[in-house]
Amino acid sequence: MLITCEKVLAAEEVRALRATLARLPWHDGAATAGSLGRAVKHNRQVDEDAAANAGLVDEILRRLRATPRFVSAALPHRFYPPRFNRYAVGETYGAHVDGAVMRLPGRDDLVRTDLSATLFLSTPDEYDGGVLEIDTRFGVQEVKLDAGDLVLYPANSLHRVTPVTRGERIASFFWIESLVRDTDARATLFDLDEAIQALTPERPTGDPVLLALSGVYHNLLRLHAAT
Ligand code: NI
Repeated sequence: MLITCEKVLAAEEVRALRATLARLPWHDGAATAGSLGRAVKHNRQVDEDAAANAGLVDEILRRLRATPRFVSAALPHRFYPPRFNRYAVGETYGAHVDGAVMRLPGRDDLVRTDLSATLFLSTPDEYDGGVLEIDTRFGVQEVKLDAGDLVLYPANSLHRVTPVTRGERIASFFWIESLVRDTDARATLFDLDEAIQALTPERPTGDPVLLALSGVYHNLLRLHAAT
């Protein structure tokens, strides 16, 4: 299941972030790809230490934790911290699956990648091509969102970024180890939470039905959560 979250970053936050990114060093993106991905990955990535030192990683993580829809959909336990990439004309990332387990930068800890996320930092009118295509059970889904919007998708999905044919596509991407490893269980919890959130404004404070539903949600989460 694909889930989008709009306006994780406001327009002025995107502008400030991109101004900082423009000053940082960029490297060949193939350097961080696995052995299969390397052959099909043609883009640039900002230097990871430079992005962290500039506060960009912490800023995005802070905004994600303050986005209720993201938290409800991903149920994040741990993050592989955000990286930043850039596709110029002719650049592309062919079909690949992201690595299942990644070592945190500068640490011994491993993160299991349950969910992949792309946070778009370019507006769609800034470039042609550069579409994120994700293979799903229901066919190929094409994703191209506004700057500041995010897509979450199961990390076991085959996906690709089509060649950019005009302009430049800048994005942040990262992975999440979820409290709930199973994609269907996580999706069901998300649906239940959405329904509870939709009911909440219509019901009086302390409404027993809402309390019961909230109890069901947390008890299901307790059943499925692994820390
Ligand atoms: Ni990927």
